[in-house]
Formats: sequence, structure tokens, C-alpha cells
Amino acid sequence: MNSVEVTNLTKIFKTQVSNNITALDNVSLSIGEGIIFGLLGPNGAGKSTLMNCIIGYLNPDKGKILLKGDDTSELNLKYRLHIGYVPQEIALYQELTAIQNLKIFGSFYDLPAKVLNERISSALHLVKLEDRKSDLVKNFSGGMKRRLNIAVSILHNPEIILCDEPTVGVDPQSRNAIFDMLKELNKQGKTILYTTHYMEEAERLCNKLAIIDNGKIIAEGTLSELIALLEKRETIKIRKAPASEKMIESLKKIGEVTETDFHYEIIPNNSNSKNSELFNELEKLQLPSHLLELSSASLEDVFLMLTGRSLRD
Ligand SMILES: Nc1ncnc2c1ncn2[C@@H]1O[C@H](COP(=O)(O)OP(=O)(O)O)[C@@H](O)[C@H]1O
Ligand SMILES: [Mg+2]
Repeated sequence: MNSVEVTNLTKIFKTQVSNNITALDNVSLSIGEGIIFGLLGPNGAGKSTLMNCIIGYLNPDKGKILLKGDDTSELNLKYRLHIGYVPQEIALYQELTAIQNLKIFGSFYDLPAKVLNERISSALHLVKLEDRKSDLVKNFSGGMKRRLNIAVSILHNPEIILCDEPTVGVDPQSRNAIFDMLKELNKQGKTILYTTHYMEEAERLCNKLAIIDNGKIIAEGTLSELIALLEKRETIKIRKAPASEKMIESLKKIGEVTETDFHYEIIPNNSNSKNSELFNELEKLQLPSHLLELSSASLEDVFLMLTGRSLRD
């Protein structure tokens, strides 16, 4: 069982200058075996604190963490060998080459040289850095450093991988490469906990999600379960154009119209009314169909509904 079970976890940072900070407030999460679990939340929500508690760098004030069914507070810290941790801040020797970094970090695990060399080769292959292995890390792009950091963190073949905001400061190509490699690791049976403040990433990558805000889990489930929390699953958008501008008064009869730079957005008066009925109404107005856009609800909408704030703020 490659599972992590977090129950009623509370972590309070005592600070000298300001009030105490409750970074985790009674957090419970069930990270089932073999899934990619996304922990989504804005900066300061408590994501890194949770990971640091799981890996054992921080001691929680209350609550417990079960790793594969065993209470981590009662385990020898060797339990960390089951976990691969990719920290939010890149942790590599910048003045050394990629392969030198892999050899140094790999030497911590007491592996026979042959096994370590094989692991290094397959990690380099996975993160697509084989052809750059002899280059100094300081000359790598942000995305390449991040990929190397992932390679370094899996040399001991952990069953559970914690990835803390691995795509921050990363170019789109590396971002896709990181997604591919996490999916590949997951396919090999590894459980992945992935934190991010980009909801698109969580939507794209994760089978199960939790939203964290101010140290509290405010929602948990699959993407469709979270979207189902919303009353309004889809929004009708009408592009601003002379044709639609003329109809604005009629559109207001259908529902509440809000305006953005390029669109009118309609929230139907009757929130239960189906979009098909709404489209009939719009057809009667003879609004050109190319001005119409239907956008599905997203995690961003779920976050907005639960907190009253946008995740991007
Ligand atoms: N070592 C620390 N000492 C004091 N406060 C901390 C410490 N680490 C984190 N915090 C505070 O705890 C809260 C959660 O931080 P963090 O877990 O880093 O959030 P996230 O990773 O979601 O951005 C923030 O308010 C942060 O300032
Ligand atoms: Mg963080």
C-alpha cells in the first residue's frame, strides 16, 4: 500500500515578531495508492508545510500521518526512504555537472555501484537530460534544473513522490516534460502528491484533488466531484461586437449580464434553466452564433465559490 493518510494535522509556527501562524489547521487527507493527488492552493496556503510534515522535516503540533498504514511519528526516520521529495526550492550543486550531482545524491543511499549507475541512467533518460549530463548545472535553464532535481529525488526508487510546485519558473516545454515524467512514474505504480497554485495543472494531471486555503482543506474529490459543487456548471459568453451590443437590453431579460473587456457573460435568471433553453432564447434574438461561447466551469470557479476570491490574486 503506497498510501499516505493525514489525520487532523495542525502545525503552528511560533514567531517572535507577530502572532503565531497556523499553517495547517486540522488537515485530513487520504492519498490513495497509485494516484496523482493534487493539492491546490494559493501562496501561503500551507502546501509546503504539509509536505515537510509528511517527509518528517517538521513535527506537527497535532494529528498524525500514516505512511502505508504506519504512524510516521512512531517510525524510525528511515521511512523517508519510501519517499522521494522534490522541494520547492531547487537543491543542487550548481558548480557541478548533472552526473556529478546524481552520483553525490545517489551515494547517500548505500546502493551497490552497479545498481546506482543503472538508476542514474534510467533517471537521466526519464528526465531527458542524457545529452546534457556532463554540463554544469549553473548553465541549465530553470526547467532543466527542475528536471534534474526530480531525477535526483528518485534514485532510491521511492514508492511515493512529493513534488512541491515543480513547474514554477519553468518554460512550457519543460513543464510538459515534467508532466510526462510524472505520468510515467505514476504508470510504474508510484503514488504522487503534487502541489500547485495553477488550477489548469491540477485539472490536467491529477486523478484526485484537494483545495487548501489558509491551512484548511476546503474541498476534496475528483475534478468532476469538485465541479459538481457548483450550481452553475457552464457559463455563456457573448463576444462584444456591434451585433451583440445592440442586444444588450434584451440579453438582460434572460439573466444577469456582466461585462469583461471582450465579453458579456450571462448568468441565467433561473439557475436551473438548461443551456439549450437559453440558446433558444438567444436564437430568437437572432444573435450570430459565432459570437457565442460556452465555457465549462473550472477549478477556478470552485475556488471562487468556496472562498469568494480568485486563485490568481
Ligand atoms: N518556518 C516558518 N516559520 C514561520 N512561518 C512559516 C514558516 N514556514 C511557513 N510559514 C508560514 O506558514 C504559512 C504556510 O506556508 P507554506 O506552507 O510555505 O505555504 P505554501 O507552500 O502553500 O505557499 C504561511 O503563512 C507561511 O508564511
Ligand atoms: Mg510552498
